[in-house]
Amino acid sequence: MGLVSGACFAKFGNNVICVDIDKGKIEKINNSISPIYEDGLENLLLKYKDNIKATDDYSYAINNTEITFICVGTPSESDGGIDISYVKEVTIKIAEILKEKNDWHLVVVKSTVIPGTTRDIVLPLLEKHSGKNVGKDFGLAMNPEFLREGIAVEDFLRPDRIVIGTYSDKSKEILRGLYKNFSCPLFETSLSAAEMIKYASNCFLATKISFINEIGNFCKKLDIDSYEVADGMGLDNRIGRAFLDSGIGWGGSCFPKDLHALISWSKKEKEEAKIIESVIRVNDLQPLILIELLKKHIPNLNGKTIGLLGLAFKPDTDDIRESRAIPIIRKLLEDGAEIKAYDPKAMENFEKLYPQIEYCTSAEEVLNSDAVLIATKWEEFKKLDYKEKIVIDGRRLKEAEFAKIYEGVCW
Ligand code: UGA
Repeated sequence: MGLVSGACFAKFGNNVICVDIDKGKIEKINNSISPIYEDGLENLLLKYKDNIKATDDYSYAINNTEITFICVGTPSESDGGIDISYVKEVTIKIAEILKEKNDWHLVVVKSTVIPGTTRDIVLPLLEKHSGKNVGKDFGLAMNPEFLREGIAVEDFLRPDRIVIGTYSDKSKEILRGLYKNFSCPLFETSLSAAEMIKYASNCFLATKISFINEIGNFCKKLDIDSYEVADGMGLDNRIGRAFLDSGIGWGGSCFPKDLHALISWSKKEKEEAKIIESVIRVNDLQPLILIELLKKHIPNLNGKTIGLLGLAFKPDTDDIRESRAIPIIRKLLEDGAEIKAYDPKAMENFEKLYPQIEYCTSAEEVLNSDAVLIATKWEEFKKLDYKEKIVIDGRRLKEAEFAKIYEGVCW
């Protein structure tokens, strides 16, 4: 998120200095090589290389810029809450440099943090360690990101909205200027509302998916195509068609982390996250339905070879965090099945987690099994010849419908 934002700001003519502690990453960025795979990112790094630099020197970066975005990770803790130690650490470093800096500087939190964090934790830390006053001596804002992995550059350049929570009018003016090239609405609000908009958006999107999965499970029983139901519902502008693709559920590094974080916060506050907890419950059960459907056709999986197409949490990424393939593999192994898996990008990551399964060199090779499960909708899976196979589809791959036996999880 940090590098995508930096590269996109550079595209709009800003001079960007990225700070990281990882020397390898710094070197790559300075050589216009992207340390992560994101469509279009490396092109931006190359094309705007004169506007973008990377360093581990906080002082150089802060003294030669007007705005600092905090983009560090906020990983999950064991109770589902988030660890904001990196946010605190960099806030203190920024404050110590602001102490000596004469010019007014704007600090913007972009990391996903529980509502209240910028106002109640970042702000006091900045004031304490700089000895200065927010609003008067420096500015503070919260500007959440809504980027999807894999298409983050596109999402950054063509957002539906930009949300800025600000502390003072001057911070607002500066961010208005930074985002002046964007034609979408710029929604201005408070620091804490901006933080909540991020959580509420992710929770709502995950809710849409779990909702359509529950409806999809009913549809399956009634022999109704849940995709037709979603198409029909989606025509209502109040509902919209997006994020109503039913299947084996949502994964990734964001939805699970954010939903659990809000639940963890609600528990501490003695609030009950009734809807969000149900959304997770539906999502936990959804991948196992794929196995139940498989057992309709192969009741005893012991010693059977099951092919698994797709390991990434969604197509066009090598990210396997909370991938729905994980609970599927866990259950197949429990039932004694032999697994042959293939994914165009995620096999290396998956092998570290499950070294005991067979990784194929092509998607075709997976078809050489007693049944095939589809867990990620990769484009290349559309080209396979499924005619002679038993296929249990978790992602609605229309081309697989011509299999000898075909079952869709919600259709
Ligand atoms: C998500 C949000 O979409 C971004 O707006 C947000 O910025 C990001 O989290 C974040 O907080 O950083 P991402 O995790 O990259 O983005 O992935 P999505 O494209 O939203 O997909 C999430 C999961 O939902 C995937 O497993 C996908 O297969 C599943 N999904 C998505 C469905 O099962 N059905 C749908 O209709 C859509």
